[in-house]
Amino acid sequence: MAESMKGLHRSHRCTEVSNANIGETVTVMGWVQKRRNLGALIFIDLRDRSGILQIVFDEDTVGAEGFAKAGTLRSEFVVAVTGKVQKRSAAVNENLKTGDIEIIAEDIRILSEADTPPFPIEENSQTKDELRLKYRYLDLRRPDIQRNLMLRSKVIYLMREFMMKEGFLEIETPILCKSTPEGARDYLVPSRVHPGNFYALPQSPQIFKQLLMCSGYDRYFQIAKCFRDEDLRADRQPEFTQADMELSFVDIDDVLDVNERLLQYVFKEAIGVDIKLPLQRMPWQEAMDRFGSDKPDTRFGMELKDVSEIVKGCGFGVFTGALENGGSVRGINAKGQGAMPRKKIDKLVEFAKGYGAKGLAYLCINEDGTYKSSFSKFMTEDELDALVKAMEGEAGDLLLFAADKNKIVWNVLGALRLELAKELDLLDPNQYNFLWVTEFPLLEWSDEEERYMAMHHPFTMPIEEDWENVDTDPGSVRAKAYDIVLNGTELGGGSVRIHQDDVQEKMFEVLGFTKESAHEQFGFLIDAFKYGVPPHAGLAYGVDRMVMHMVHADSIRDVIAFPKVKDASCLMTAAPGAVDKKQLEELQLEIAEVEE
Ligand code: AMO
Ligand code: AMP
Repeated sequence: MAESMKGLHRSHRCTEVSNANIGETVTVMGWVQKRRNLGALIFIDLRDRSGILQIVFDEDTVGAEGFAKAGTLRSEFVVAVTGKVQKRSAAVNENLKTGDIEIIAEDIRILSEADTPPFPIEENSQTKDELRLKYRYLDLRRPDIQRNLMLRSKVIYLMREFMMKEGFLEIETPILCKSTPEGARDYLVPSRVHPGNFYALPQSPQIFKQLLMCSGYDRYFQIAKCFRDEDLRADRQPEFTQADMELSFVDIDDVLDVNERLLQYVFKEAIGVDIKLPLQRMPWQEAMDRFGSDKPDTRFGMELKDVSEIVKGCGFGVFTGALENGGSVRGINAKGQGAMPRKKIDKLVEFAKGYGAKGLAYLCINEDGTYKSSFSKFMTEDELDALVKAMEGEAGDLLLFAADKNKIVWNVLGALRLELAKELDLLDPNQYNFLWVTEFPLLEWSDEEERYMAMHHPFTMPIEEDWENVDTDPGSVRAKAYDIVLNGTELGGGSVRIHQDDVQEKMFEVLGFTKESAHEQFGFLIDAFKYGVPPHAGLAYGVDRMVMHMVHADSIRDVIAFPKVKDASCLMTAAPGAVDKKQLEELQLEIAEVEE
């Protein structure tokens, strides 16, 4: 039977008890990790979020009733124990923070009994994800997840602390919004009072934070929940948390500077990692050319090389064809992998095809300097030598080439480079390579929409000297946008915003808005800017992703208390779910017949 807390006060968390308390009487509370009966003595491991503490029950000390109670304890019972701290009678446990002490119980209360959990509550659980997430409240008891969430709490605290010191104000922005133009699909909320109308959950506080600058708040930040109805991946959730900020009267360098110091502070205080400032910066074009990615992992080399010039007159149709189509031929050098078995190379070819390649051409440099290649019969010896030289190929190397439109070549080789690095164990998890990627293209052509789209969002400022080309060559205009990348992950991104209405108007025009449609969507922002707006810029971090990196988690779910699975459902609460007919009627909504 569950007993009450009446008159009881916890004096310590489990691992707050130490050598220094020997001889003192303490009261600890927590969950029973396990019980061992040794005849005259009963031992339990007591667990709370701080860790584990050993309790000993001896009938002489705890009394007959207490001893009998201890005998009924099972895993996950919740108990309170009062007793004296003593040196461990049996072997010291080096693995525990409290490994050299124990509590000799004088009193015990069972605060809650527990059914046998569907899986053991332990570190590095082997339990299937589905079961873990169905019983997330039990899964959350596991020490590794608890450590993750404690670190997450600390990271958010450190960010707040830093931002406050730097003069940022924390201001909340609405969750019930109008659609924002962030690119992903919106989650919609029907309005009861305005039947047929919908709120959108914010994809980010973007417009509101710009308006706050307009209103003179100077520096804003917020730990903001954001919602995006997009396909989930290992580092994406439909709702996630941003550390969001905006600053007035600044240009790029001001934003990067304060953020570098923020990162330095948070990584040092949270996980003891020293970050050297200033962080490396790389224009987008260079990132694509060297790494085939706008979020390059710079912990290893294997950089892309453009060999278009070298192969342009060769007899290999795959290469020359791609060049004639306006594409390029690029390669990577997998150092020392020249003896890779054919089967493995075929796997790489398949991998490349998964990223849109039509094929992957390879050339192995044998130890005797001869070549084994999928395309050598199409090239002269001299042409091959020139290609190998350009790739800095040496005996024992494996060269891999993709020929196609630039976008595909980058995508394929960028992914291949990472895949090889994983396979060859080139990624040191304890190395933290931060990188600013800057000078993104302002616009991106969409074949689907047959128009230019904003690469970041429509409020991003073009680089001044590029803007005059917006009519003649829109694709060449670079933006004052920046991403902060850590070991190949985009941790955050932002931009300087447009504050001149003529530039903003032109931008809307380039994006295919009419004056009316721009006004319909962003009228309040356009109007606001007419009343005096400071130049402003900002950035948002993905907090979940940041913590994920700090704890080396494979999945973003490991740093979110109640995450959703791939199809955006919650296995514990079974959200989303059907609603009452009455609720639908109030909203004047009807469900169309859905085909299974
Ligand atoms: P952006 O769309 O780049 O910029 O988002 C900022 C950061 O948020 C994180 N993030 C996500 N994390 C988890 N799950 C998701 N589905 C998800 N989507 C994004 C990423 C990303 O870098 N308003 C702008 C910021 C600005 O311009 O100031 C914005 O939202 O880490
Ligand atoms: P094929 O002549 O189609 O048999 O191709 C000869 C070699 O070129 C094979 O190794 C193909 O995988 C490779 N290949 C085909 N298309 C491409 C491409 N777009 N880029 C790089 N290699 C390719």
